[in-house]
Amino acid sequence: MSAVQKQTADVFSSDWRSFATVRRIEHCLLRPGGVAVQWDDGRKSLFHTEWLRDNCPCETCVHPVTREQVFEIIDTPVDLHAESAGLNGQGELAIGWSDGHRSVFGAGWLRAHAYDHATRLERLSAERTVQMWRNDLPIPTFDYQAVMSDDRALLAWLLASRDVGLTRMVNMPTTEETMEQVARRISFIRESNFGVVFEVRTKVEAVNSNAYTTLELPHHTDLPTRELQPGLQFLHCLVNDATGGDSTFVDGFAIAHQLRLEHPEAFELLTQIPVSFRNKAPQSDYRSLAPIIGLNARGEVSEIRLANWLRAPFDVAERDMPAFYQAYRTFSALTRQPEFIVRKRLNAGEMWCFDNRRTMHARQAFDQASGMRHLRGCYMDRDELLSRILVLQRAE
Ligand code: OGA
Ligand code: ZN
Ligand code: ZN
Repeated sequence: MSAVQKQTADVFSSDWRSFATVRRIEHCLLRPGGVAVQWDDGRKSLFHTEWLRDNCPCETCVHPVTREQVFEIIDTPVDLHAESAGLNGQGELAIGWSDGHRSVFGAGWLRAHAYDHATRLERLSAERTVQMWRNDLPIPTFDYQAVMSDDRALLAWLLASRDVGLTRMVNMPTTEETMEQVARRISFIRESNFGVVFEVRTKVEAVNSNAYTTLELPHHTDLPTRELQPGLQFLHCLVNDATGGDSTFVDGFAIAHQLRLEHPEAFELLTQIPVSFRNKAPQSDYRSLAPIIGLNARGEVSEIRLANWLRAPFDVAERDMPAFYQAYRTFSALTRQPEFIVRKRLNAGEMWCFDNRRTMHARQAFDQASGMRHLRGCYMDRDELLSRILVLQRAE
C-alpha cells in the first residue's frame, strides 16, 4: 500500500465533525508558493504552501486521539515546497513535500476552510446569525418536557437563545431544582458571589443588590461589574402572586444599531470610552472598566454592558464629559422607547433564558403586601451555549 493510499484510508477529521463534499475539486495546479484549486462550481481557491503544510491532517501531524496538532510549522525549513499535487481516487488533494512528507486533504474540509474572497464572505455571512427584534417579537417559547427529553428540541431552544437572545420556557415544575436541571442540560452553571443559583425575592437586609428590594429595576445587564459578563441568564418563576413585577426586555443590539444610524458620534463615544462599574457590599467589591457598547474583533457590536445603579462616577476627559453624558442619555432613552420594549409577565412554572450580554432586562416595581414573588436565577457563559450547539449539530 502506498503512503498516499494508507493516509487516505486512515484520514480523519482534525475537527470532530465531518465535512461533506459539497463541491468537488475539478483540478489542481502546482504553482510556485502554493496550489491553485478549481472547484466544480467554477470557484478558484489558492492554498499557500505553508498553510497546507500547517494543516496536514495525518496522524503524525495531528494526534489521532486528541485530534490536536502536534506539528509546528516552525520546524519546517522556510524553503519547504510541494513537489507534487494531484487528486487521488477519492477526489482528495494529495501533496508530496520536498522533505518526503505527504498530506491528503478531503475536498469537503478544504472547501470549508478555503480563504478565497468569495468563500470568506460566505463564511462570514453564515456566522452572522443575530436576529434583531423590537416590541412585536413573538417570544420564542419552548416546552420543558420536550427540551429535557429531545435533543432536537434542545437544539432549537439553544439556537433561539443564541440568535434572538430571548426565549421563554413553559410547563415547568415549580420545584427548586428544576432550573438547575434545565441549565445543566446545556452545560456548567457560572457561579458568582450571589451563589450557584440566586433567589430573587425581597430580603430583609438587601445589602448587596437593588434586585432584592421591591423597586423597579431599569433595563440592565447583570454583573456588568465583571471583566466577563455572564452570557446566558436564566430566571425561573416559582411564585408570582404580587401585583406588578412584570418583566420587560429590549434588544441591546437593535438599540446600538439604531444609535449608530441616528447618532453615529454618540455610538462612537459609547464604544470607545470605558465606564467603570462597581458592586460593593460588606464582603465584596467587584469592579470593571469597559465601554457600554462592546465590539468584537471584527468591529461588530457584540456586547452591551449597563446597569445604571452599578456605575461609578464617569471618569472621562473634561472636554468629552458633556458629549459623553449626551451619548449616555441618548442610549438610555432608547431603552425606554416603547417600540423596543417587549413586556410580559412571568408566571409560576415559566422561565426566561436570555443573552445577558445583549438583551437588557427590567422588572416593574411590585407590591409586596399583595402576594409572594419568588424567582430563581443562574448564569452560564456564552462559550457553554455555543459549544453545546456545535456538539448537537454534529449529530445532524
Ligand atoms: C435581577 C433582576 C428581575 C426580576 O435580579 O437582576 O433583573 O424580575 N430581576 O426580579
Ligand atoms: Zn502530516
Ligand atoms: Zn437583572
